[in-house]
Amino acid sequence: MQPAVLPEQRPLDVVILAAGQGTRMKSRLPKMLHPLLGRPLVLWSVRLAQQLGARDVVVVTGHGAQQVEEALHSSGVQFARQDQQLGTGHAFLTAAHRLRGGADVLLLYGDTPMLPLATLQNLLSAHRVGQHALTVLTSELPDASGYGRILRGESGEVLSIVEEKAATPAQKAVREFNSGVYVMDAAAPVLAGRITNHNAAGEYYITDLVSLYQQGGARVAAFKIADPGEVMGANDRVQLSQLETIMRRRVNEAHMRAGVTLQDPATTLIHDEVVIGPDSVIGAGVHLLGQTVLGEGVVIGPYSVVQDSTLEAGSLIHAHSVVQGARVAGGGDIGPFARLRPGTVLEAGVHIGNFVEIKNAHLHAGVKAGHLAYLGDVTVGQQSNIGAGTIIANHNGMDKQHTTIGSGVFVGSNSTIVAPRTLGDASFVAAGSTVTADVPEGAMAVARGQQRTLEGWSRRYWKGFGDRVAVKLPWLAGWLSRQH
Ligand code: UD1
Ligand code: CA
Repeated sequence: MQPAVLPEQRPLDVVILAAGQGTRMKSRLPKMLHPLLGRPLVLWSVRLAQQLGARDVVVVTGHGAQQVEEALHSSGVQFARQDQQLGTGHAFLTAAHRLRGGADVLLLYGDTPMLPLATLQNLLSAHRVGQHALTVLTSELPDASGYGRILRGESGEVLSIVEEKAATPAQKAVREFNSGVYVMDAAAPVLAGRITNHNAAGEYYITDLVSLYQQGGARVAAFKIADPGEVMGANDRVQLSQLETIMRRRVNEAHMRAGVTLQDPATTLIHDEVVIGPDSVIGAGVHLLGQTVLGEGVVIGPYSVVQDSTLEAGSLIHAHSVVQGARVAGGGDIGPFARLRPGTVLEAGVHIGNFVEIKNAHLHAGVKAGHLAYLGDVTVGQQSNIGAGTIIANHNGMDKQHTTIGSGVFVGSNSTIVAPRTLGDASFVAAGSTVTADVPEGAMAVARGQQRTLEGWSRRYWKGFGDRVAVKLPWLAGWLSRQH
C-alpha cells in the first residue's frame, strides 16, 4: 500500500517538556531560563525545533510558567500548561491537545541543550526510512544510574524501557539508556491517553508508549548515538557549568577550524550566533556576545568584550575595551580601555584611545580621539581631532541634545562643548574652552579665563607657613632660602 504522504513530506511537530521545577538549581529563576552561552536553556530546544523546520512547537510549562512563557513570547511557540507535574507521560498528554495531527512528533526536554542539529536530523531520517512508529534516542554510559534502561530482545529489537526505580540488578547493569528524546508517528497523541500511573512512582511515564505501540503491532526502534554528552542535561549549577564548558569549546573549535586564531580558547567566550571572518585573532579572556559580526582579519586584544556589534574587516580593538551596539569600519584602532556604547558608528581609520567613552555618535573617517573623552550624541566630520579630556555635555538635566562637529575641526584638550552645538568645518577650539555658542567655519573659539602671571607670588605664599615648610617640604625650604 502506498502511503498518502511521503514520510519526508510529513510535517513535524515538536513538543518540549519544560514544566519541571529544577529544585537542585536552588534558584528563584526557573531552571529552564538559566542561560547557557547566553541563551536560556529552553530556547536551545526551541531553536533546534525551528531549525528542523517544525510546523508547530508546543512547550509544556508548569513551574515558573509565566516567566518561561514570557521568555519565549516572541519565539512563535505555543504553550500547554501542566499545573501538576504528574510525569513525562502526563506532560506529553497535556501538549497533545494542541497538536493538529497528521504529523510526526518529536519530543525534546527543555533542559538538554547540547543536542546537535545533525543528530536530530539523523534520528528523524532513521525513523522515517525505517518506517518506525516510535524511535527513541539512546546512548551508552559505563554507569547509567538514574536513567531509564533500554531492554532489547535476542535479535536486538527494543522490548521496553525500564526506569531506575523498577529495574532489577541485571537491568541496572545495562549501559544503554533512554535520553528522553523520541520521534513518534501521528498516533502518539492518541496513544498517550492510555498511559496510566500504575507504577512504583505513581507517575505517568511516557516510556509506556513503547509497550502501547507494541501491543498494536507497531515498530519501535532505538537510534543509538556514540556520544552521551549530546543528551546531557543540567540538573544543578555544577552540571550547567560543565555544559557551558563543553558548548564553549564546541563553538570555539568551530571558529578555529574555520580560520580564526583564539590565543587562549579556554578563556574565550563566544556566543553561538557570533560570526567571525577568517584570519581574525582573538586574545585571551575576550567575550564576543549576542549578535556580533566580525569581518576578516579583525584583531581583538585580551579581555575585551564585544556585544551586539559589527566590526568590519581589519578592525583593531586593543585590550580591555568594551564595545556594545557599535559598528566599526576597519583601518583604525580602538582602546586599550575604550568604551563604545550603543549607537556608535566609526568610519574607516578612526582612532579611539584609552578612557574614551562614545555613545550614539557617528565619527567619520580619520577622526582621532586619543585620550580621556566623552563623546555622546554627536556627529564628527572626517579628520577632526578631539583633544584629551574633551567632554560633550549632551544632557541638560532633562533631555539629550545633539552636537555637530564638522570636518577638519581641532578641539583642544580639556574642552567642554555644551550641546546642542555646531562647530563648522575647519574650526578650532582653544584648549580648556567651555563652548556655549556655535563656532562658524574656519573660526577659532577661546572661552576661558585670561592668564595672569604674578611675579614672586610663590615666595610670599610659602613664607607664610614659617618653620613648617622645612619639616614637610625640605626641597621648597632650600629653594626659599636661596631667594632674596
Ligand atoms: C526520564 C525518563 C527516563 C530517561 C530520563 C532522561 C520517563 C518516565 N523517564 O526520567 O527514562 O532516562 O528522562 O533524562 O520519562 N517534565 C515535565 N512534566 C512532568 C515531568 C517531567 O515537564 O510532569 C519534564 C522535566 O522538566 C524535564 C523532563 O520532563 O525536562 C524529564 O523529567 P524528569 O523528571 O527529569 O525525568 P526522569 O525521571 O529523569
Ligand atoms: Ca532527569
